Amino acid sequence: MDIPTTMRSLVAPRQGGPEAYEVREVPVPSITLPTHVLLRMHAAAANTGELQAVAGKMKIFHTPKYPTQLGAEGSGIVVAVGPGVKDLKVGDEVFGAYIDKPMFRLPPPGFISEYAVAEERFLLRKPAHLSLLEAAALTTVVVTSYQTWRRGLQLMGADSLEGKTVYIPAGLSSTGAMAAQVAKNVFGASRIITTVSTPKLALVEQYLPGIYDQVIDYKTQRPRDQVAPGSVDIMYNTQWTSMDEGIPLLNPTTGVLISITSAPSKATAKKMIGADRFSWWIGLLLDLAQLVYRWKLRGTSIKYEMVSGGLEIREDLEKAGEIVALGKVRPVMRTVELGNLEAVKKGCEEVVTGKGGIGKLVVKI
Ligand SMILES: NC(=O)c1ccc[n+]([C@@H]2O[C@H](COP(=O)([O-])OP(=O)(O)OC[C@H]3O[C@@H](n4cnc5c(N)ncnc54)[C@H](OP(=O)(O)O)[C@@H]3O)[C@@H](O)[C@H]2O)c1
Repeated sequence: MDIPTTMRSLVAPRQGGPEAYEVREVPVPSITLPTHVLLRMHAAAANTGELQAVAGKMKIFHTPKYPTQLGAEGSGIVVAVGPGVKDLKVGDEVFGAYIDKPMFRLPPPGFISEYAVAEERFLLRKPAHLSLLEAAALTTVVVTSYQTWRRGLQLMGADSLEGKTVYIPAGLSSTGAMAAQVAKNVFGASRIITTVSTPKLALVEQYLPGIYDQVIDYKTQRPRDQVAPGSVDIMYNTQWTSMDEGIPLLNPTTGVLISITSAPSKATAKKMIGADRFSWWIGLLLDLAQLVYRWKLRGTSIKYEMVSGGLEIREDLEKAGEIVALGKVRPVMRTVELGNLEAVKKGCEEVVTGKGGIGKLVVKI
């Protein structure tokens, strides 16, 4: 296959939001590590953390270099492999997310481009029952859901969610929609309660038939008025604004609160950004945040932990691949075309603000 020298890529030209994004002609990346795979990208996802970092909202951890090519998750076809690549070969259809830990050390993977390189260890073969477009939406959310539920079960001292009532706010968000499917179809949750905004109420069964047992309109109803206090065994927190409303629902003695969207502990933060970039004042801020969570949970024995998904743990990535291959989960997503820059910017705006979108934003290249 002829590989061109330049390609189209979605680029943030400077620090800021999606309104400034451009599609630029840039050089096609080349294989620089023996384990690199060059992909002809088919589709790529836009993720909140990355777009917020590009907008300058993570300055205490990381400031990207601009212009920055966007996207770290997606799907494509292998067009070249480095000499150290063991399993993948030219022509394979793959999906994955090139996000290592400590974070922010790799050059931006630029998956929202016609070509991108990634190390083989971050890629999985696409199962036949999914399209490349669908596969682009899955990696980070399946891995994070699997790891977060597993940690929640450890904190509960349980092997499965059978007989358990689960609360997952934002049931049609990218993370919430996947957390619910993994809870029910992988860990056997008996009852799942969720929240969505009013316009999405009618869409829940359309996107995820049979997954949710109770859906609350969080714009007009308070979860504590709809669910018996103390009746929830475990909450999976997905949004910065959703933790408080879930706490009264949890069993105050045995409840577990796992969260993917709150301040991490110092140990977790060190793994996320690397001990070398961890300063005493970041530690102080995180200690203060833990005090706030302890205060929120005062008078209860609820166990709380923030989990940061780890794509670099190959065993877990392969487990996620198995969950996908077995058809236990389906993508909940919306699609825009790279050729329609205005639609891309609008979708990315929803991602940065965490408002309005349904499922994962996938850009078709
Ligand atoms: N720890 C980790 O490993 C990890 C991994 C992935 C993502 N994350 C984080 O998880 C967060 C969510 O990511 P995401 O991909 O799920 O984002 P997303 O798909 O953009 O989710 C936001 C959606 O949730 C709804 N929503 C917002 N606030 C809500 C609330 N209080 N209650 C109910 N629904 C609400 C919004 O819909 P409406 O406007 O219609 O309400 C919005 O469309 C982000 O902060 C991201 O950085 C963490």
